[in-house]
Amino acid sequence: MAVSGSVREATLSLLESPPHRVARERAPALLAAIEWLQEGAEPREMTERAALAVVSLTTAAFAMVYFEGSGLEPQLFALGALDETAAEACSAMLRGVISSGAGSPYLLLAQGATLIAPFGDDMVRGGILARKSFGAFDDADGRMLAQFARQVGSAATTLCLRERVRGMKQVGAAALDAVNEPSQVAVEGRMKRASQPPSRLSPTQKMFGLDDLVGESAALRQVRELALVATRSDSSLLIEGETGVGKEVLAQAIHSGGPRHRGPFIAVHCAAIPRDLLESELFGYDRGAFTGADPHGHAGKFELARGGTLLLDDVADLPLEMQAKLLRVLQERSVTRLGGSRSRLVDVRVVATSNVPLRRAMEAGRFRADLFYRLSVLSIPVPPLRERREDLRPLAEHFLRKYSPLHGRRIQTVCGEALRAIESYPWPGNVRELEHWMESEVHFASPSAVSLDRLARLPTSAGQPAAPPAVRSLREVERELCAAAIAASGGDVTRAARDLGISRGRLYRKLRLYGLEPR
Ligand SMILES: Nc1ncnc2c1ncn2[C@@H]1O[C@H](COP(=O)(O)OP(=O)(O)OP(=O)(O)O)[C@@H](O)[C@H]1O
Ligand SMILES: [Mg+2]
Repeated sequence: MAVSGSVREATLSLLESPPHRVARERAPALLAAIEWLQEGAEPREMTERAALAVVSLTTAAFAMVYFEGSGLEPQLFALGALDETAAEACSAMLRGVISSGAGSPYLLLAQGATLIAPFGDDMVRGGILARKSFGAFDDADGRMLAQFARQVGSAATTLCLRERVRGMKQVGAAALDAVNEPSQVAVEGRMKRASQPPSRLSPTQKMFGLDDLVGESAALRQVRELALVATRSDSSLLIEGETGVGKEVLAQAIHSGGPRHRGPFIAVHCAAIPRDLLESELFGYDRGAFTGADPHGHAGKFELARGGTLLLDDVADLPLEMQAKLLRVLQERSVTRLGGSRSRLVDVRVVATSNVPLRRAMEAGRFRADLFYRLSVLSIPVPPLRERREDLRPLAEHFLRKYSPLHGRRIQTVCGEALRAIESYPWPGNVRELEHWMESEVHFASPSAVSLDRLARLPTSAGQPAAPPAVRSLREVERELCAAAIAASGGDVTRAARDLGISRGRLYRKLRLYGLEPR
């Protein structure tokens, strides 16, 4: 998506004013950040992108982005190294500035170490907080963050409007159900209170750390040990495991436990990006690279991840010609933007994930051997949940404790029949499937329960119709399931992937395969 002309002009004119030569140099970075922000199609994704952009634009050690709006869950994303107490203090400070309706476009606090830029209109209100560990922000930083905050505000308003239209359709369909339950309506397949209490900041969402990985099995202990080694190294790392085992959260934990934790963590879902856009997404493009390209050029993910970690998710899906280009970048440690001639050094740690054994893809000729060896200097296999059953109970209880307070419940433990049911199901969607199962169980639990004694639905056959007698091809069934999930989510790929218990990248790949891509 290109940045609109008026935004570009406003950005440039804002940064034009003397004596901010440094700021003027920042204009391309700011434009790239705005463009990147606008590609965030979901509230959470947009919020994450905003926080990442703030870190890369301001060299802040910590960034927090919050907004709330009618029809949207409040969104909060925090990024960077900060202990929980300090993060809570930042959250309170940001909340205070937002609710006081501060008139100025930005505020420098704590001797300039903290910078806050609030934003808002009739539909949304929110703000961005950036904090430095050393040194102070100046007014040029303030103006730039204020400009960026305005863009985050308008992106949030767009998302609010879209959500409102979507919500109206679903509420309409649920209206009949709501007649007998005046306080609740079914929205997005979940029961929600019709009159939401005033929104509050949810607990700080931060990157996963090694201590956040739940599980006590010997297999997970080994994963933790290997991860610890990986945090101390800067070598390329390959994380393999089935869908939903926790590859991405492990990559986050390794990033946040290592020396690059102050830098950005950028994830590229290789399977989700159309082939012809992959090169420009990864390596960027220079002005005039192709028709319709941003005339100012565009930084690729390698450049955005400078000083941090680049996660290449589902790396096995990279087409062979992209594998060759990636190999060159990794060897030379520099990128040349598409259509450009200048090579730019990129100091990036690459972590790749795959949910198929990459060695097997290499042996089958689908993955370059030289790239395989370069990516797998370190390698961590994450076993599926069925091979580490000791983790089931702690994980189930972790998710119950995570989701209970969000739905007015106070369940802490799982026992008896519920535990037996959990332990006897193979969880093909692994931790992700278990997480969603536990979240939905919370809805059915009594408000006074502190322990989950039996499951409201059994994970084996819940709601499934009996298997049809005629044998159908797996492709046929899979196509139908994907189509049904997309239809049920109103075209929202993220939600459909969650419902199917697979990653978004994987669903994109299947949608393309079956010609079901939402328009
Ligand atoms: N050990 C763990 N402790 C707590 N939560 C976990 C753990 N492992 C995974 N999760 C949760 O499971 C979910 C799926 O994890 P993640 O996205 O990392 O899976 P993945 O292996 O990358 O899957 P895919 O291949 O489908 O992308 C996340 O929501 C994460 O919070
Ligand atoms: Mg993943």
